[in-house]
Amino acid sequence: MNYDEKLQHVSVLGAAGKMGSGILLLTAVEMADLSLKPENKGKTFVLNAIDLSDDGLAGLIGYLRAQVQKIAEKKTVWLRQMYADRADLIENYDIIDQYVNDVLQIVRPTTAMETAYRSSLVFEAVTENKDLKVKILKQVDQNNPNKAWFFTNTSSVPINIIEAEAGLNGRVLGFHFYNPPAVQKLVELIVTANTQAEMKQFALDYAKALRKVVVPSNDFAGFIGNGHFMRDALYGIQQAQKLASGRPLYEAVYMVNKVSQEFLVRPMGIFQLIDYVGVDVVQFIMKVMNPFLKDEDLHSDLLDEMMVMGVKGGQMSSGAQKDGFLKYERGAPVAVFDVKSKAYIAISEFAAKCDAELGALPEGYLPWKAAVRIKDSDSHFKPYFASVKSLGTTGGDMAIQYGRNSDRIGRKLVADKVAHNEQDVNTVMLTGFFHAYGPVNNYFE
Ligand SMILES: NC(=O)c1ccc[n+]([C@@H]2O[C@H](COP(=O)([O-])OP(=O)(O)OC[C@H]3O[C@@H](n4cnc5c(N)ncnc54)[C@H](O)[C@@H]3O)[C@@H](O)[C@H]2O)c1
Repeated sequence: MNYDEKLQHVSVLGAAGKMGSGILLLTAVEMADLSLKPENKGKTFVLNAIDLSDDGLAGLIGYLRAQVQKIAEKKTVWLRQMYADRADLIENYDIIDQYVNDVLQIVRPTTAMETAYRSSLVFEAVTENKDLKVKILKQVDQNNPNKAWFFTNTSSVPINIIEAEAGLNGRVLGFHFYNPPAVQKLVELIVTANTQAEMKQFALDYAKALRKVVVPSNDFAGFIGNGHFMRDALYGIQQAQKLASGRPLYEAVYMVNKVSQEFLVRPMGIFQLIDYVGVDVVQFIMKVMNPFLKDEDLHSDLLDEMMVMGVKGGQMSSGAQKDGFLKYERGAPVAVFDVKSKAYIAISEFAAKCDAELGALPEGYLPWKAAVRIKDSDSHFKPYFASVKSLGTTGGDMAIQYGRNSDRIGRKLVADKVAHNEQDVNTVMLTGFFHAYGPVNNYFE
């Protein structure tokens, strides 16, 4: 089967989810584009959007329609060529409408898993639960005569475990999109010792067609992105707990969040990022990764405590942040959760005292939004972090320690053979986490 044939009958499992809906959109557009090629005229392309949730599926077509409309508006010249034989399509809006219809015609929202039994390619993006993933993939495979290929979006489960438990010998790989898949450029690609070479080549071709940046990761729980993020998050939590001796934990959370965002010039502070991903998701991924780690304990009692209190963070369907460690108003943190009183304390009540203790940002500070645009980032960050180091303040010292730890995590991912090299670690953090500089650097020595 060539590339186009492989994409003629596809299923997305978990299609109504955050990741599944994005994967569905990208795949629907790619399939529609293939169907418009002269050599594919007359062939039927089918994309099953499979999910348990009727409610989720109900909103899917509306979401796709709006997104495909935007995509179509950006490629009217190409679409005009593809529809050259259609004399009835005159204005741009005729062409755009036709394309939106053609994409939507491919997509079949359904709760019936059986529809995947005829697919040659299956994307899996159901809830992060190994047993669930194994059960579903096994079920589809055992009923599917096509020896289908399975692309799982798991964030933490080693692919070889899914492969062995679902009996998929060589026909599953990790195609780890970042959230949201339609926007994020990064994909981590994880193969096992058995992965078929043609499947890996297909994955690379598909990623290229979607204009993704592919970073290969070895098959180790958490891969590169979560391998860095989970350890970085645990470090932040531990720093806050240390800082909390003699002061309330909520103040310490505020301070570590501020240092990790402002002093370290990151898009958000570490507690905001934990909230964004979800306290539950972070706790869960650590739990999956932990048994595979020989020399460290990736576990936080504080996360467990937050979960018991029902403080989970995460995102609304609009992408807005739900309250977690921090409480948000119009996207900005306004209060911090106090585990003692189980209430949010307004940042305005204690920020001035904490800010004074951290000290000022150094001269030459550029916020992340400006710094991330600098082409030669070394020329900015090397002197910037030298200034941070010479501050001699609590904030400056915390930032340097934090940066050193992040660098250590990056190098360890290479030493542990999770990442092939330091550049791959940096690419994942620059592309998938929007850092303005790679964690492996020489700024914090
Ligand atoms: N959210 C992220 O930032 C992110 C990033 C990368 C990878 N991932 C991974 O992607 C996967 C999905 O995550 P998500 O954030 O989109 O979760 P989500 O909860 O938004 O979506 C999961 C979807 O799976 C559906 N589902 C659950 N059980 C099912 C079943 N038995 N059959 C069919 N559908 C079922 C749910 O109804 C839901 O729509 C997970 O493996 C996660 O680790 C998530």
